[in-house]
Amino acid sequence: MTGRGVLDGKVALVTGAARGVGAGIARAFAKEGARVAVLDLDAAGAEAMAAELEEHAPAIGLGCDIRDSAQVDASVARVVERFGTVDILVNNAMASAQSRFEDATDADIDLALDTGPKATYYFMRACFPHLKGTLEEGGGRIINLRSASDPGGLAGYGAYVAAKAGVGGLTRVAAREWGRHGITVNNLAPFVLTEGAKAHFDERPDELKGVLRHLSVPRAGDAESDVGRAAVFLAGPDASYVTGCTLTVDGGGTFFS
Ligand SMILES: NC(=O)c1ccc[n+]([C@@H]2O[C@H](COP(=O)([O-])OP(=O)(O)OC[C@H]3O[C@@H](n4cnc5c(N)ncnc54)[C@H](O)[C@@H]3O)[C@@H](O)[C@H]2O)c1
Repeated sequence: MTGRGVLDGKVALVTGAARGVGAGIARAFAKEGARVAVLDLDAAGAEAMAAELEEHAPAIGLGCDIRDSAQVDASVARVVERFGTVDILVNNAMASAQSRFEDATDADIDLALDTGPKATYYFMRACFPHLKGTLEEGGGRIINLRSASDPGGLAGYGAYVAAKAGVGGLTRVAAREWGRHGITVNNLAPFVLTEGAKAHFDERPDELKGVLRHLSVPRAGDAESDVGRAAVFLAGPDASYVTGCTLTVDGGGTFFS
């Protein structure tokens, strides 16, 4: 499928795209003609997703632990070697553990901060030379996954919320610094019942009912047709003047102000 999508020929690197929200974004990008690099700790899952995407456009699946900056740099180099550049970076992968504030272990805190703001910083830094363009010609796009739990606060998720607040900060600073290079940097804050989200709600079915009731659009989002399409907008030609913002795709669950 060439010559028909709004991302035709673009190179997108999506972390944590073996499943969940990342997989939805990768599918939406590939259907718009982007060549997608699927990165995940689950190397076999990344390769399987890339094989699926090949139906639409060339793709590559790579195993990568985003907590390790050497692996991040090596993965970005592999993508550039294969596709020539990186035009779109999506920092989606993240892992965290739930605990009461006072019970969080060092490992719990490290997991959220290492896979959240630290990994996001590593990828933004590694991809910058490839994303960098000019004000006139335009440059690359960065989309960082944030969460409505960051402005709202979410009991049981101290390290996760701190990590997402950090990701929001990185987005705003890079938007300020890199706009002159034609790079836009934005956040997406989704609500999708992925495996990651289900792990939380499976133990609290009543809480899920309450969350769904509270939404302005009272249904869970879809990783591809809701979040993926919003990512296509932020990555595509219509969003070149949109930067530093958080686009919520959560059925009106949260209004950032
Ligand atoms: N699902 C939601 O409703 C929701 C809400 C708010 C924010 N988010 C954010 O959206 C993003 C995706 O969420 P999801 O629900 O799809 O998550 P998920 O847990 O279902 O999937 C996360 C993916 O990241 C990968 N991953 C985890 N640790 C990794 C590591 N160290 N290195 C490389 N890959 C790693 C996993 O293997 C998995 O494929 C996350 O940043 C999450 O915080 C999701």
